Amino acid sequence: MPTQAPTADAAESPTHGPARNEDEFRFPPGLRHNLPFYLFTRFFRPGNPILLFQHLVKTYGPVSHYKLGNNNIVFINDPELIREILITQAPAFIKERTQQRMKILLGEGLITSEGEFHMRQRRITAPAFHRQRIQAYASMMVKHAAAMRASWQPGQACDISAAMMELTLEIVAQTLFATDVTQEIRQINDEVNVIMQLYNYLIALPKAESYLHWPIPGLIRFRKARSRLDAVVYRMIAERRGSNEDRGDLLSMLLAGHDEEEKTGQSSMSDLQLRDEVITIFLAGYETVANALTWTWYLLSQNPAAAERMQQEIDSVLGVGPDARLPALEDLPQLRYTEMVFAEAMRLYPPAWAMGRQSTQAIELGAYRLPAGTYFFFSQYILQRSERYYHDPLRFDPERFTPEQKAARPRFAYFPFGGGARQCIGEAFAWMEGVLILATIAQQWRFHMLPGQKVDVQPKITLRPKYPMLMMAEPRVNEDR
Ligand code: HEM
Repeated sequence: MPTQAPTADAAESPTHGPARNEDEFRFPPGLRHNLPFYLFTRFFRPGNPILLFQHLVKTYGPVSHYKLGNNNIVFINDPELIREILITQAPAFIKERTQQRMKILLGEGLITSEGEFHMRQRRITAPAFHRQRIQAYASMMVKHAAAMRASWQPGQACDISAAMMELTLEIVAQTLFATDVTQEIRQINDEVNVIMQLYNYLIALPKAESYLHWPIPGLIRFRKARSRLDAVVYRMIAERRGSNEDRGDLLSMLLAGHDEEEKTGQSSMSDLQLRDEVITIFLAGYETVANALTWTWYLLSQNPAAAERMQQEIDSVLGVGPDARLPALEDLPQLRYTEMVFAEAMRLYPPAWAMGRQSTQAIELGAYRLPAGTYFFFSQYILQRSERYYHDPLRFDPERFTPEQKAARPRFAYFPFGGGARQCIGEAFAWMEGVLILATIAQQWRFHMLPGQKVDVQPKITLRPKYPMLMMAEPRVNEDR
């Protein structure tokens, strides 16, 4: 799950405080003094912190530095140094403040927890995401995508972003809770929408948790929606604990993981802990995939040759006319080009568009030495559009993801799912879901942007489209519909 860029929050004092004597450190080039006000207003324009990062890379190169209040902030645009932070020197870092602040909703779930506690939770949760386990969800993903494609009419205009949110929300709810939540999906959807509207703003504010209880209408709405969502989750947990039934869903796996831990004599996962993990997986698991799919449909609409090639692949794997069948798990190895399209879309529009860490001790990084408490940011959106690693980087070209081309790039020239011990636990789930949804829908439909629409990114927690994305659904010819 991504982060947000440093905003006014960076004016909070870091956990370990700035170095007493900054002379002993070697800082990268950049704005030596506090970020001047004019730059702050120019680049921290609400809604687009990407501008500041782009400015830093253009002016100072792959590693740059600036100060905001007492805080040292380093922006990195170099795959090897990102590897240093996420893997080689990972124990010397914790997540930066925006992600810590997500606790107002996620509690101590996988995204927000740290250290030993995180490692234990990750161990318990990992089996639920094993490749074999998630394969059981493939047919359910296809079933939901097929129901959505059957609901569209030729020539109908649809907001593809809203449609993808609805579809991925249904899928994650079903995979988490099996069948018993079907009735409540609409309600959950509404609560989540209320929560997310405010949450995006709340986590950008310093000390969000301290005024969460203020009697302000927006905050009251947030608290109510959170309580209703909690109530649904707690009820599911209670029912499942009572029945002791393995429904093959993620919740059963989390409970089974808890039992395993009990057998080994370790303390068990409380209801509160289960709640935090369930809400974390739930929220991390749908908006990211929905955004990835939305941008994929957008890019396909702008690149008809790639769309055509993907459809040919789908037809050759699944058949055409009356003999056409729905995709299944076994088809994934043959849907190579579809996967390359999805990969290329996440290169240009990575749903997790930036990540951040804070050092807990003095750090040697490349040619630099930085004090404890320094914030480090790096952005998938910026690095994955770098000319250094991608020729003609703004061009949509799925061929960049042939095995040969992938192998020719450094590991962290493409990192939509992060890396190291905190790498996205749902990565295999997301690839499977993305490719199966693309194949199911593209088998029958292609999409065209309605004329006169503005398209831009809105870098919130995830990289959303800034405006609704209205597309016309056109049935494919020679279809037996
Ligand atoms: C295209 C879809 C997705 C993208 C781009 C994405 C991206 C990411 C990234 C970049 C991180 C690491 C954040 C960091 O280290 O600071 C992450 C973590 C995480 N993601 Fe995803 N994710 C996606 C889908 C999913 C799905 C489908 C699930 C669950 C069903 C999920 C659950 C999580 C969880 C629980 C973590 C925290 C893992 C940990 O720290 O141990 N994600 N994701």
